[in-house]
Amino acid sequence: MCSVAGYIGKNYSKSFILEGLRRLEYRGYDSAGFACLSPSDGRLLYAKTQGRLICLEERLNQFPIDGFLGVGHTRWSTHGSSARLDNAHPHFDCEKTIAIVHNGIVENHHELKKQLIEYGHVFHSQTDTEVIAHLFETMLATHVTFKGAVISLVARLEGAYAFVCIVQQYPDQMLLVRRHSPLCIGIGDDEMFVASDPIAFADKTKKIVFMPDESIVIAHKDVLEMYDFSGASSAIVPQTVEYDWRTDGKKDYEHYMLKEIFDQRTAICATVGFLRSNMDHIWDQLSIWADSITQLQCIHLVGCGTSWHAARMAQFFFETICKIPTRVHLASEFRCMPFFAEKNAIFIAMSQSGETADTLAALRIVNESGGMPTIGLTNVDSSTLMREAGGFLLTQAGREIAVASTKAFSTQLTVLYWLAHFIALQKGMISDGQLEQAEEELRTCAQVLENAVEEYKFEIIHTHAPHYAQYERAIFLGRHISYPFALEAALKLKEVAYIFSQCYPAGEIKHGPLALIDKNTPVFVFSHQDELIYRKLLSNAQEVKARDGRLAVFAFEGQQELICLADVSFVVPRVKPLLGQLAMTGLMQFFVYAIAKELGRPIDYPRNLAKALTVE
Ligand code: F6R
Repeated sequence: MCSVAGYIGKNYSKSFILEGLRRLEYRGYDSAGFACLSPSDGRLLYAKTQGRLICLEERLNQFPIDGFLGVGHTRWSTHGSSARLDNAHPHFDCEKTIAIVHNGIVENHHELKKQLIEYGHVFHSQTDTEVIAHLFETMLATHVTFKGAVISLVARLEGAYAFVCIVQQYPDQMLLVRRHSPLCIGIGDDEMFVASDPIAFADKTKKIVFMPDESIVIAHKDVLEMYDFSGASSAIVPQTVEYDWRTDGKKDYEHYMLKEIFDQRTAICATVGFLRSNMDHIWDQLSIWADSITQLQCIHLVGCGTSWHAARMAQFFFETICKIPTRVHLASEFRCMPFFAEKNAIFIAMSQSGETADTLAALRIVNESGGMPTIGLTNVDSSTLMREAGGFLLTQAGREIAVASTKAFSTQLTVLYWLAHFIALQKGMISDGQLEQAEEELRTCAQVLENAVEEYKFEIIHTHAPHYAQYERAIFLGRHISYPFALEAALKLKEVAYIFSQCYPAGEIKHGPLALIDKNTPVFVFSHQDELIYRKLLSNAQEVKARDGRLAVFAFEGQQELICLADVSFVVPRVKPLLGQLAMTGLMQFFVYAIAKELGRPIDYPRNLAKALTVE
C-alpha cells in the first residue's frame, strides 16, 4: 500500500513528482524514491531514502537528478522490512534499465522469483515489486513489441496492483498497469501526469482518465494508448473533474490531529448544512435504490477501523430512530463470509478515504451480485468509493491529514444520525419539524464537543496526560452505544500513543477480563445517559473498584455515583441520549492526543500506519 506518481512531457518531472507525492504521503511514509531518464545521455538515474518524503527531498537537493520522464513512490511496507533501503521503490531489472514503482501486492511473487532466480536473475530486495521488473526484463527480451511484452507480463501477475514503469530503451513512453489498485492520468498540454489519486495533479489539469480495472496504458507526452489485459485496445474517456487538493495547513496547531479535533464543531455543522441542502438528491438516491424507502427492511454497513466503529454506533441510530434492523460488517471479514443478497435492503460502505481496499472489495462483491443497491459514505470526493458505489453520501470534514481519524469519525456519525431521521421522515414516523430538530441536536452536540475539550484541556495536559502516559496497558469499557465508542477510544490509544489497550463490553468483564484488573492497568468507563444502562455500567465500575482497579470515567452531568467512585472523571453536559458519545468524542480524542504528546510520539504519522490502506 503505497503511492505512485509518474510524469512524461515537455517539463522536468521531479518537481511535479515530489509535490504530487507530498499530497499522497497519507498512503504510506516508510520510504520514498524517484527515478528518471537523464536528458543528457538517456541513462536511468534514481534516488531512494528511508523514512518520510522530506528525506528524499533533502537527498535530491544534495545530489540533483531530473528528467522529462520520471516516476516516484512513497511506501507502506508489505513485503520486506521498512528498515532496509533496498526495499524502497523504484525497483529495477538486472541491468538497471527498467524502473518500476508499484502499489499493491503481487500474490504469486514467490514462485515467480524462484523461477527468475533459476534463470539467473539477481534480486536486491525482499519485495514482491522487484519481481515485476525482472519479469518484464525477460518479456522485453523475448517479444518483438513493447505491447506484446506487457501483455505477457500481466498474464503472469496475480494479485492487486497498480504500477508505473519507465524503460531506458523507450524514452518516449511510460507504462501504466492497473489491476484493482487505483491509478489515474491527468492529461496536460504535451504532458501526462500519473498518480494513485488525482489530487496529486489537481492543480495541473482537470482532464482526468481513471484507468479501468485490468487495463494497460502506454503513455506518450501527447497521446495515450489503452488496452485491456488481452491486448484489445480500449477507448479513452477523459472526464473533466475539479478536485480541491489544498489544505488549510496546521494553522497555529502543533499537530494536524489537534487541529482536526478542533475542526469538529465546524465540520459537523457543515455536514448538517450539506445534508439539508442536498435532501432532494439523497431522496432520489434512496428511492431509486430501495424499491421504496418504506419497504426498507435491512441496512447493511461495512467499514474498517474507525469507520467500522462509527458503523457500529450508527446501528443504534437506525434501529432506534427509524426502526430498521441493521447489520454491521467488518470489511476485511466480509469477503471471507458467504454473501446473501437481500430484497429491500441497502448496503452502505463507509470509508473516510474511500480507498480502503477491504471496504472496496466488500463493495465490489455486493455490486457484482447485482442484488442490492450500494451507497458509499466517504469524506473524499475524488475517491474510488465515490466512483464505484451506486450512490454516495459525503461528509464535509475537509481533508483529514493526521493518520488517526477524528473529524471523519464524528462527521460519519453526523451523516448516519441524520440519515436515520431522514428515513424515519420518509416512513412517516417523524415530521419535517422533527428532522429539523435532529439537525439542531447535532449542532448543539458539536458545540458541547468543543466546549468539553476547552474545559478540560489544561487539566488533561498538566495532570492526566503525564499520569496516564506511565501505564503500559489500559482497559476500556462501554455498554450499548458506548461500547463501540470505547472500542474507538482503545484503538486511538493504541495507534497514537502505542499503549496496549483492550476494550470489552462492560458486562463481559466478569467473564474473564476481571482477572486483569490491578493497580497498573487503568480502566476507562464510558457512561451512557439512559438510566438503566447507566446503572448497569455503575455496577461494572464498582466491580472494578472492588478489586482496587484505577478507574477513570467519561460521564454525563448528574451521574454523581459514578463520578464519586472514579479516581478521575470527565463530565459532559447531557445531550440527546444517542448523541452522548458524539458529545464526548473530542474529549476522548484530546485525552489520547495529550498522552501521545507526553510520550513524544510522532502523532500525525504513527509508526507502521498509513492514512489509506489500499491493500487487503
Ligand atoms: C484509525 C483509523 C483507521 C481507519 C481505517 C479505515 O484512526 O483512521 O482505523 O479508520 O483504516 O480507513 P477508511 O475510513 O479510510 O476506510
